[in-house]
Amino acid sequence: MSGINQDVATNAPSQDNEQVTGDVKIHYITYGSEKESSWLPAIRQLISKDLSEPYSIYVYRYFLYQWGDLCFMALDDQDNLVGVIVCKLEPHRGGPMRGYIAMLATRSGYRGRGIATELVRMAVDKMIAKDADEIALETEVDNIPSLRIYENLGFLRTKRLHRYYLNGNTAFRLILYLKPGIPYKVTYPPEYPYPEGDGSTPHQQGPLDEDLIQRQAAQLDIQDIHDQRFNLIARSDDFT
Ligand SMILES: CC(C)(COP(=O)(O)OP(=O)(O)OC[C@H]1O[C@@H](n2cnc3c(N)ncnc32)[C@H](O)[C@@H]1OP(=O)(O)O)[C@@H](O)C(=O)NCCC(=O)NCCS
Repeated sequence: MSGINQDVATNAPSQDNEQVTGDVKIHYITYGSEKESSWLPAIRQLISKDLSEPYSIYVYRYFLYQWGDLCFMALDDQDNLVGVIVCKLEPHRGGPMRGYIAMLATRSGYRGRGIATELVRMAVDKMIAKDADEIALETEVDNIPSLRIYENLGFLRTKRLHRYYLNGNTAFRLILYLKPGIPYKVTYPPEYPYPEGDGSTPHQQGPLDEDLIQRQAAQLDIQDIHDQRFNLIARSDDFT
């Protein structure tokens, strides 16, 4: 969802030059079902420090009120928030059940320790448990750490979104397909209602929009990474 601030676009040290050395024990918790959790201010602070999009409190509430169980946090040994992922899960344009990773950040001094990777894995596992068909996100085309995390986990670049962010930067949309055949699932342009009934409406007669074409093109790449992806989430036997 969000782009990153220019000063962290190259993963450069943040303004406070925080450096955490040595062995810090990190533990992970879920935000859970609390509506106005005591973690909300810390989450806002961590995310707004690094992401370029100016989210209001309503954006955080939109995600956390409805999908608090898809928000995971990394805490250090003094229970300071050092990493967070915020997601949602809902049907995409009348088609697949799509998980969406909206925000991901690790505190600057704690980067490069696998924290974000672990947060993404936890969110992916939870969305699989909730029967997601696919998981999507956007990230800036030059955000190498972010691209590495997602591509290591089997996400594919499906679209290049020119000047997608408010700061003018371009994004990739990445998608992790969790079930065979999902890229072939028909979706419907948002301006039309989803068809119901006997199949006589034009929208039920075939492929409809660019979204579907992109999804089908992505299917061509999927076979190459199937083993890696499903081993990674320890469900390889489900897809043989
Ligand atoms: C992107 C971000 C969440 C990564 O957090 P992290 O906890 O450091 O991530 P991890 O340690 O799990 O893994 C990062 C991956 O990027 C790699 N990486 C980290 N810094 C890198 C750099 N400067 N250049 C190239 N690769 C880098 C790591 O080696 C690792 O890949 P690997 O597992 O193949 O070795 C963190 O940099 C951040 O908060 N950035 C600002 C906000 C942001 O960009 N969010 C994502 C927007 S979608």
